[in-house]
Amino acid sequence: MAFRCDRCDYQAIKWIGRCPHCGEWDTFHLAEGEEEAESSWIGEELLPITRIDLAAVERFATGIGEVDRLLGGGLVPGGVLLFGGEPGVGKSTLLLQVAQNLAELYGKILYVSGEESAAQIKLRASRLGVTSENLYILSEQNLKRIVAAVESLSPHVLFVDSIQTTLSTSVPGEAGSVRQMRETSAELTRLAKAHKMTTFLVGHITKGGAFAGPKTMEHLVDVAIYLEGSREEDVRILRSVKNRFGATNEIAVFQMQSGGLKAITDPSRFFLDEHNLESRAGTVVVSIIEGTRPILVELQALVSPTGGYGAPQRRCSGLDYNRLLLLLAVIERQLGVHTGGADVYLSIAGGLETRERALDLGMIAAVVSSLRNRPLPERTVVIGEVGLSGEVRGVKKLRERISEAEKLGYERVIIPVKGKPSSLATVETIPVATINEAMEALCLS
Ligand code: TYD
Ligand code: MG
Repeated sequence: MAFRCDRCDYQAIKWIGRCPHCGEWDTFHLAEGEEEAESSWIGEELLPITRIDLAAVERFATGIGEVDRLLGGGLVPGGVLLFGGEPGVGKSTLLLQVAQNLAELYGKILYVSGEESAAQIKLRASRLGVTSENLYILSEQNLKRIVAAVESLSPHVLFVDSIQTTLSTSVPGEAGSVRQMRETSAELTRLAKAHKMTTFLVGHITKGGAFAGPKTMEHLVDVAIYLEGSREEDVRILRSVKNRFGATNEIAVFQMQSGGLKAITDPSRFFLDEHNLESRAGTVVVSIIEGTRPILVELQALVSPTGGYGAPQRRCSGLDYNRLLLLLAVIERQLGVHTGGADVYLSIAGGLETRERALDLGMIAAVVSSLRNRPLPERTVVIGEVGLSGEVRGVKKLRERISEAEKLGYERVIIPVKGKPSSLATVETIPVATINEAMEALCLS
């Protein structure tokens, strides 16, 4: 493979005038020296496995407890983190808060922005109460000058916001092209390892993956975390998808406020908060597991007669649409409950998104409760996966889910027969084998 498109990274064995992939003209160049650059030595001593010191993985806290928990106990010196998210979700906001904490705790921190001027950052910083003497701001896009700044300042932690605006002059292509992003992130990774300097690389991700950009860097970095959220909600979910130093699929929940992002340390209470424990028709409290942590959330269903305006609607937000269709078929067949003439809307509260099967039984209960206009018994949580013949299947981490319900003051939990934990404290558990039994236990049959 000898030629490469500067814009989209398409590879070809001969030179081409116009790239067949992105359609750009005159972007093909000889791809030389790349192997050498990407497989560079990270400077560790050669040792037999028996002599490697485990205590060598030291960590240091960011001062934001939820971020540290997500990372598996804090940052690792020399670790490189990819911090992704859609534009406007709050990446720069959260990182500036982290930078402030780190500067207060450990001394010099360098925050490089290729998107905003130092004055703009200062403006944001003053809103966030970021005032540390040790926090240095550099508004720069040129990689060489970023490297020079790192060499003269020797910061403990470097933030590069964003990788799409960082430009290396040693390879061709415009900033933000796959080729450039690979080069700049590889160079910044080498810098991080050589200086044992923890580095955050911000990457913009667009929904639908129109531009896969930062995803192609995931293999280069030690940790990849993404900040998610929608414009309609102020809830932000920070999710770890890769972590060489800890567990993945953990989440941390934040709320966007006027003074920046605030960590929500008790998400169940936060997501259920506004609604207290009183129950309403169509509303069911269910349990999801994010990483190692159970979170209780509310499902809401609205089932109303279509009234002759065309085909019945099925909508859901935050949940698996196909799963809803399947469960409606199961309801029809196993419970004899007809929804064919009704619109069905189902959503999960708080802007969360999940495809967890343990919500099946809760989804069914919400639909039936709305249809019958009958609330569930108070202080009840519903847990279980449902099979095609209406059987209720076991779920993982049942004990953790039950204890979370108990902790939040729920009195009754509908659970699958299979996998029922033996000794449990005060909360009443009602094991069910089928959805018929579940409906009976919920007074919905
Ligand atoms: P930002 O961190 O600039 O997003 P990103 O770096 O991911 O592109 O956040 C932008 C949004 O956050 C903006 O619409 C305003 C809002 N915001 C607040 O609500 N409160 C705040 O304290 C700050 C700084 C921003
Ligand atoms: Mg930003």
